[in-house]
Amino acid sequence: IILKDYELISEWVAKYIHLKITNSDHIVIGLPTGSTPIGVYKNLIKFKTSFKNVITFNMDEYIGLSPKHEQSYNYFMDNNLFSHIDIDRDNINIPNGIAIDTEKECIEYENKIKKLGGIDLFLCGIGSDGHIAFNEPGSSFNSVTRVKTLTSETISDNSRFFNNIDEVPKTAITVGIKTVMDAKEIIIMANGINKANAVKQLI
Ligand code: PGA
Repeated sequence: IILKDYELISEWVAKYIHLKITNSDHIVIGLPTGSTPIGVYKNLIKFKTSFKNVITFNMDEYIGLSPKHEQSYNYFMDNNLFSHIDIDRDNINIPNGIAIDTEKECIEYENKIKKLGGIDLFLCGIGSDGHIAFNEPGSSFNSVTRVKTLTSETISDNSRFFNNIDEVPKTAITVGIKTVMDAKEIIIMANGINKANAVKQLI
């Protein structure tokens, strides 16, 4: 679906998610971070969408950043969505980037998604190199939640949020391509000229 500008994309997706949530007794949603979904989150807050019956799973988290770090995805989600809505904190799932045993964290994350019946709707952004979550090009279609090393393009893209490129974590916990593809429904949002090539390959 091609829409005129970022505002319209954000409104369209937010209305879609709002309807899905309000028409379900129980729904599991996958959520991204990044600049792309911010408009959707703003709209969901504006619509006063009730998240009482929603369980969320975020796509990824940097390894080494505590939830309190301003560039962690835990912090991002709290700031941009969770602290503004009525979600039960126990229903929020984000990989723990400072888990002592990251392998165990990945397995438990994937298992929890399965135990809750899978993801009903996965909202995704896309990187300029085509990555979905932190599944960089070359990631297996059978991949599940695991540790990934970020490509130099992603590290460079994300350095705009840090004081300098050396501060950008080099690894992350990410859901896999299979984790995303197993969702009953997927929305991938893309905005801006730097995403054009990735979108072209996608469709
Ligand atoms: P962006 O990131 O929304 O900040 O462009 C998307 C992504 O890297 O997946």
